[in-house]
Amino acid sequence: MVFQLFHSFYRRLLTMSFRYQVSLLSLLVLSAAVAVRNLGPNATTTHCRSVPHDASWPSQSDWDSLNHTVGGKLIATVPIAAACHNSLFSQSNLSRFNQPDCDALRNVWYYPETHLPSSSSPMAYTFSNNSCNPWLDPASPCTLGFHVAFSVNATSTSDFQAAIKFTREHNVRLAIRNTGHDYLGKSTGAHALSIWTHYMKSMNFIKAYQSTNYTGPAVKLSAGVESIEAYSFAHSHGVMLVGGNCPTVGLAGGYTQGGGHGPLASKYGLSADQVLEWEVVTGTGELLIATQNQNSDLFWALRGGGGGTYGVVSSVTVKAFSDTFFSTAYLTILNNGTNADDLYHAVGLFIQTLPSLVDAGVYVVWVAAPFGFMLMPAIVPGLHSAGLDEMMQPLLDDISHIGLDYQYSSSEHPSFLTAYNSLTSSWNVSDYNIGGRLIPRSLVDTDSDALLEAIRYISSRTLMSGVTFNLNNGVSSADEVGANPYLRKSLFSVTVGTLINYTDWNANRAAQDMITYDLLPKLQAITPNGGVYLNEADFQAPDFKETFYGDHYQRLLQIKDKYDPDDIFYAQTAVGSDRWKENLDGRLCRV
Ligand SMILES: Cc1cc2nc3c(=O)[nH]c(=O)nc-3n(C[C@H](O)[C@H](O)[C@H](O)COP(=O)(O)OP(=O)(O)OC[C@H]3O[C@@H](n4cnc5c(N)ncnc54)[C@H](O)[C@@H]3O)c2cc1C
Ligand SMILES: *[C@@H]1O[C@H](CO)[C@@H](O)[C@H](O)[C@H]1NC(C)=O
Ligand SMILES: *[C@@H]1O[C@H](CO)[C@@H](O)[C@H](O)[C@H]1NC(C)=O
Ligand SMILES: *[C@@H]1O[C@H](CO)[C@@H](O)[C@H](O)[C@H]1NC(C)=O
Ligand SMILES: *[C@@H]1O[C@H](CO)[C@@H](O)[C@H](O)[C@H]1NC(C)=O
Ligand SMILES: *[C@@H]1O[C@H](CO)[C@@H](O)[C@H](O)[C@H]1NC(C)=O
Ligand SMILES: *[C@@H]1O[C@H](CO)[C@@H](O)[C@H](O)[C@H]1NC(C)=O
Ligand SMILES: *[C@@H]1O[C@H](CO)[C@@H](O)[C@H](O)[C@H]1NC(C)=O
Ligand SMILES: *[C@@H]1O[C@H](CO)[C@@H](O)[C@H](O)[C@H]1NC(C)=O
Ligand SMILES: *[C@@H]1O[C@H](CO)[C@@H](O)[C@H](O)[C@H]1NC(C)=O
Repeated sequence: MVFQLFHSFYRRLLTMSFRYQVSLLSLLVLSAAVAVRNLGPNATTTHCRSVPHDASWPSQSDWDSLNHTVGGKLIATVPIAAACHNSLFSQSNLSRFNQPDCDALRNVWYYPETHLPSSSSPMAYTFSNNSCNPWLDPASPCTLGFHVAFSVNATSTSDFQAAIKFTREHNVRLAIRNTGHDYLGKSTGAHALSIWTHYMKSMNFIKAYQSTNYTGPAVKLSAGVESIEAYSFAHSHGVMLVGGNCPTVGLAGGYTQGGGHGPLASKYGLSADQVLEWEVVTGTGELLIATQNQNSDLFWALRGGGGGTYGVVSSVTVKAFSDTFFSTAYLTILNNGTNADDLYHAVGLFIQTLPSLVDAGVYVVWVAAPFGFMLMPAIVPGLHSAGLDEMMQPLLDDISHIGLDYQYSSSEHPSFLTAYNSLTSSWNVSDYNIGGRLIPRSLVDTDSDALLEAIRYISSRTLMSGVTFNLNNGVSSADEVGANPYLRKSLFSVTVGTLINYTDWNANRAAQDMITYDLLPKLQAITPNGGVYLNEADFQAPDFKETFYGDHYQRLLQIKDKYDPDDIFYAQTAVGSDRWKENLDGRLCRV
């Protein structure tokens, strides 16, 4: 997602003396089971997962025994903002209140690095249930809320198996956490035991991977490897990987399992398209290898059918590509208060240029908001900046012709890593509620006026981004991988964001509801039977089965039921999740 980029560019704009825009920015505030059941027969016998004080909730000695099995790597959650509260778990004698620590935490709250070393902190604030909020009065409670109760700081597949066995025996809810980036709360869960993969960091370069379909360089990544770690490793071997925009998002987890777009999408397709092999522990605790020829149904489902659903992945092996040079281009047109009609005219012309750009391998990230429009950036492998300028020139001429002021710049970078590092330095992750919608390419041809009107409606009120691609170069057909087939006919994915309100929970809920009930419906109306990119979506979407997974839903569900016959893996909006309901007290029950 790209709003995080927005902050650093906004600061760049300020240094370019557009300080008068500050007042406009404040507008943003508006804002089959072949599986061997070898791990305990009774996980499905009860209607609801256990919560503390239930007779079935594990005893202290049960937890101690699990801790022993996993070599002392069991962590009991203390929410990271405990230093900002006078009590912990409603007990003042447990207080960890410490004003300097609290101030220090507040200073870095918005950065992913703050949450990465935590076994429990969701970056998307809503999924803490406001239970230990660093911005509230110290007298407010600090409780577990929707944080997981315990985590296994996993280092091996036997840790995965021990955690799965334990949750089956004790009917405890299971969660899988890698980085905690998930926007839909899929990596946390009230009263859950989590398998935390963050410290599984090994990487291997395979010079000539061989399979029926592919012979060439590949990289094997363990579950906890972050994008930037993988990119740097690939760079050191003269290759590049298909990954996302945020340096700390994990590659083997929810990102690739959910599809995964990024700078190379228009050239090579989704990250899910690049997968050659998964190592995965299923819901029955079996360790399997999934490839094109082995457990091929599981291989297919994990390639875009959603994280936290079919098994716990311990590693992924992906294709690597020869490194090359890159060009990037940026364009800014500001709304000065009187030029909105002209500005949206220009946005309309910009959208018309997108099909030819993506067909030339360009991945285009843009933002529209009350302050104006920003292309930030267009990025393309193997094309010199003069070539990119040439493609942009007709649009720039049109913008001049309209009489709008704009700023355009482009540059060239010798490798993927240098291009990537030029994109942004700081990422502000935990400050937007989000929702999304895919825009089919056909709409740009047939009804661009209606599209522009919807974009204007949304971006006049809050921030929206369009991540633009041609996703047809990684697969020969949309059904080759599990990812939502609608992605293949999409031109861009719109993400809508409203600022999180940390001090007023109800206002924050209202900000999400504005996405669900006011903003997204404008796009839904013009994209009937449409699609959504499941990782950048509204967690409240009522029709998630159809929109997040498209025609693949039924097949994905069959595969889930084969490899996770007792529904051990649950995540909101995941395949099969509609068979469960989470009560307000956090208890997860079958419906
Ligand atoms: C700042 C930011 C930038 C982003 N940029 C992009 C982008 O450029 N392109 C893009 O496509 N997406 C992007 N995303 C969305 C991103 O793909 C999702 O947030 C994704 O869920 C992150 O995966 P994770 O494993 O790092 O996170 P987590 O929150 O830890 O996990 C996400 C989901 O995957 C599951 N999961 C994690 N690890 C495993 C595992 N080993 N086995 C099975 N399931 C697992 C979890 O249970 C959960 O359901 C961005 C998100 C943020 C916050
Ligand atoms: C991050 O977001 C917060 C809240 O919107 C803002 O106050 C802060 O300036 C942002 N930080 C950066 C580095 O963009
Ligand atoms: C697990 O064991 C380790 C080492 O003995 C200990 O430090 C840790 O606190 C234990 N975890 C829990 C939840 O008891
Ligand atoms: C804290 O106080 C509670 C009563 O409020 C008591 O039950 C508990 O044993 C005390 N814990 C410690 C560590 O003193
Ligand atoms: C979540 O928040 C609501 C509203 O404050 C509360 O009623 C509920 O008990 C909370 N649930 C958990 C598990 O914290
Ligand atoms: C988790 O384990 C890693 C080593 O694998 C260790 O460095 C880290 O401190 C542990 N984290 C917590 C919170 O226990
Ligand atoms: C599961 O089965 C074991 C042994 O048969 C039993 O001890 C345990 O209580 C059962 N758990 C649940 C939640 O039914
Ligand atoms: C990959 O190989 C399988 C057979 O193992 C074949 O069915 C499939 O079509 C191949 N895919 C591509 C993209 O060549
Ligand atoms: C805003 O920009 C337009 C050009 O698009 C210009 O004509 C107008 O004078 C500007 N208004 C202000 C207030 O700067
Ligand atoms: C949050 O809500 C409070 C009270 O309703 C309001 O004063 C504040 O401006 C809001 N902040 C944001 C970022 O929306």
